[in-house]
Amino acid sequence: MVELGYLLAAILFIVGLKGLTHPRSAVRGNLIGSMGMLVAVVTVLLAQEILNPGLIVAGVALGSAIGAVLALTIKMTAMPQLVGLYNGFGGIASVLVAGAVLYQVLGIGAAAAVGTTTADLQMLVATSASGLIGAVTFFGSLVAFGKLQGIVTEKPVRYRGEQIVKVLVTLVSLALAVMVVRTPDQIEYYWALAGVASLLGILLVIPIGGADMPIVVALLNSYSGLAAAATGFVLTNTVLIIAGSLVGASGIILTNIMCKAMNRSLANVLFGGVGAVQESAGGDDIYEGRVKSTSAEEVAMILKSARSVVIVPGYGMAVARAQTPVRILTEALEADDVTVNFGIHPVAGRMPGHMNVLLAEENISYDKLREMDQINPEFANTDVAIVLGANDVVNPVARESSGSPISGMPILDVDKARTVVVIKRSLSPGFAGIPNPLFAADNTLMLFGDGKKVMDDLVSAYRDA
Ligand code: TAP
Repeated sequence: MVELGYLLAAILFIVGLKGLTHPRSAVRGNLIGSMGMLVAVVTVLLAQEILNPGLIVAGVALGSAIGAVLALTIKMTAMPQLVGLYNGFGGIASVLVAGAVLYQVLGIGAAAAVGTTTADLQMLVATSASGLIGAVTFFGSLVAFGKLQGIVTEKPVRYRGEQIVKVLVTLVSLALAVMVVRTPDQIEYYWALAGVASLLGILLVIPIGGADMPIVVALLNSYSGLAAAATGFVLTNTVLIIAGSLVGASGIILTNIMCKAMNRSLANVLFGGVGAVQESAGGDDIYEGRVKSTSAEEVAMILKSARSVVIVPGYGMAVARAQTPVRILTEALEADDVTVNFGIHPVAGRMPGHMNVLLAEENISYDKLREMDQINPEFANTDVAIVLGANDVVNPVARESSGSPISGMPILDVDKARTVVVIKRSLSPGFAGIPNPLFAADNTLMLFGDGKKVMDDLVSAYRDA
């Protein structure tokens, strides 16, 4: 019965993940995945004969309350650090559970009575792996959280002999991991391993710059899965092995997708240190005398004579929470038979799927959300491209093969549209910290202001025009 429960949970996890591959089925997928987790937890409790209802209800209530408060209060722009923190919790849970089992097996302390696992080679190797990967994940995630939250410097922290220090600390960790396997009864080796691996986690993440942090968070997500899978082997718990492997694999796939979308290799992200938040390069030479500022009324007039419009949202739309007037303008344009589509860059915003989530909140049809490869050929036949709070993902500098932090990154070809309207507050650069020649292009009009305010004005002006 227990194995069947685990099998059911594993099936629900996989079906849930499949659901997450499309916005239309994502909510259902999320729910199915959560049901899988419930089945897994209940099965474990029954299998271990942990039948203390008071304790279980208290645990579920406490966990749910913390989860609900976090989920409801977190700002959409702070999502990467929340995910980072969750990964860290997964890592530390693996360290503590594997450590606790070691105490059981060795018959130390109160845990002695319950132990069923034996200290064979598989269990010991898995315990070492849980301690090592779990501690790297926990402290690496804490640093990632600190950087994204602005508690620790966002800039890469580099120092002389950095790679040698990292190699040495890695070797000491591995040596301690071997000692845990060889002399498990000396429990202090396990905690020393956890301690040195914690230092390794910090050393691995601290040299990485702000712009690369979301990639590192995805990678740490994968590590947390590996740590959980290792703990699954410690406990000989099938569902934990499966769930951990799913997290490990999906984390690495996501890491790869993000690297590709930013034209970076993983090695470059981890060791290159190019992800630095750049000092704002002066755009005076590019912008001087060439930037044309416009008004909501003028843009409304242009839209009145347009037949096709593509809206390109970016990080600024998320900050301004401008998605509601975006939906209203879309409806107004469509009522006038204007074709409206959305150009979604894979790394627009600050996390994968950021724009899709915001637009889905407004029930904007998924069919209108076009990926970069689909929409790019259409810009040449587009009357107006509205760039709302996006910058790097439409910066033509990326087309140059070298010389800038975004060189080689695929972009949305908005500059091919007949008219480009860029909505942002100033000429400030985006995440990559470089000027954008699009703002000075002949066919570009700048509509300066907060994204939400400008879009509200545009909606009223369009209605009045
Ligand atoms: P960015 O290049 O970061 O530009 C966002 C623009 O929004 C800024 O230039 C800013 O200009 C504007 N803005 C900020 N607040 C605004 C507001 N209230 N109203 C209107 N505009 C506002 O954004 P992007 O084009 O979405 O590119 C994303 C960047 O993040 C890329 O460099 C990408 O590589 C990086 N990144 C993304 C991810 C993922 S997974 N999405 C992961 C890692 C890194 P003003 O200050 O002038 O308003």
